[in-house]
Amino acid sequence: MPENHPFQLDRVRYPGLTRMADILRAKHRFAADIIDRGAALFGAEWADAFEPVLNALFPTEEAVTAAAKGYSVFAMQSMRLQAVFERERQYKAKTHEQASSEVYFNEQHMMQEYLPGLLLSHFLWPHHYRQIQFFNSAFVQAMRVAGATSFMEVGIGTGLYSGLLLRALPQVRGVGLDISPSSQRFTETQLAALGVADRYRTELRDVTAEPLEPKADWLVCVEVLEHLDDPVAFLRGLRRNMAPGAKAFITAALNAAHADHIYLYRNGGEVLAHLIEAGFTLEQSFIGMAYKPSAPGVPVPEAAAFIVY
Ligand SMILES: C[S@@+](CC[C@H](N)C(=O)[O-])C[C@H]1O[C@@H](n2cnc3c(N)ncnc32)[C@H](O)[C@@H]1O
Repeated sequence: MPENHPFQLDRVRYPGLTRMADILRAKHRFAADIIDRGAALFGAEWADAFEPVLNALFPTEEAVTAAAKGYSVFAMQSMRLQAVFERERQYKAKTHEQASSEVYFNEQHMMQEYLPGLLLSHFLWPHHYRQIQFFNSAFVQAMRVAGATSFMEVGIGTGLYSGLLLRALPQVRGVGLDISPSSQRFTETQLAALGVADRYRTELRDVTAEPLEPKADWLVCVEVLEHLDDPVAFLRGLRRNMAPGAKAFITAALNAAHADHIYLYRNGGEVLAHLIEAGFTLEQSFIGMAYKPSAPGVPVPEAAAFIVY
């Protein structure tokens, strides 16, 4: 396709994306053109990755409408908190225990707003999708080349990253750990609908407790560090779950206010310092900005991802 003709969504090939775009346009004006922008920016690769996830989790008009509403609540809450953060340069003080009861153990909020919102943000927010591209090109490809047969994901949340791995590598089996029963249920629903649940099991488990056996050769942990009071203790827990020679894909959100973001990372160097303190060595990293700052010095949410061993 010539470069000056941006990719456009075909309604027949992408019915799920078309339906989501129509609902966002009709009911959630702030996100009216967000699907078209994603399609124009990332093209068919993005649409081909997004469409099956949408169809698996939100197969009916009713389910898409509810997911769009959940995304709207999730995104608006994050925009409101980000505006406060821009002024105060701090996250609202909260402990992991408070965040757990307000968010992870709040079944209604998790299933209707937080998890659908987070899942959609992985595709709709450019820095989140660029992080997925980095994951695919640097980590999934390394697993493919090494002939990996298993992985562990910690803090599965929506289960999206486990699903990406299971679909990309048909010989791989996975285990997913989380403390939230809602994250467990959401992940299991998605993976069953994608037809990969027979190669995956979940456990409700805090990774800082006793390590799981067998240990992981490949470990994934996406956007958990900023949710913790003590990220280094958690990172040490991750390391204890890794076999000798194992590799991990670990990410953190920087300068991104949200109801359950506790630990403020201001730059990638601060995350790397925690990784090193916990005993990891850096192999590759990625940093992506959500948008251009409105003025010099105004903090902008960023995604920071690290491949470490
Ligand atoms: C923002 S979500 C993670 C996003 C998820 N990786 C995804 O890709 O959708 C944070 C998750 O970490 C989980 N979590 C928080 N503390 C944890 C801990 N100590 N051990 C395991 N999971 C934890 C929460 O329950 C929640 O599901």
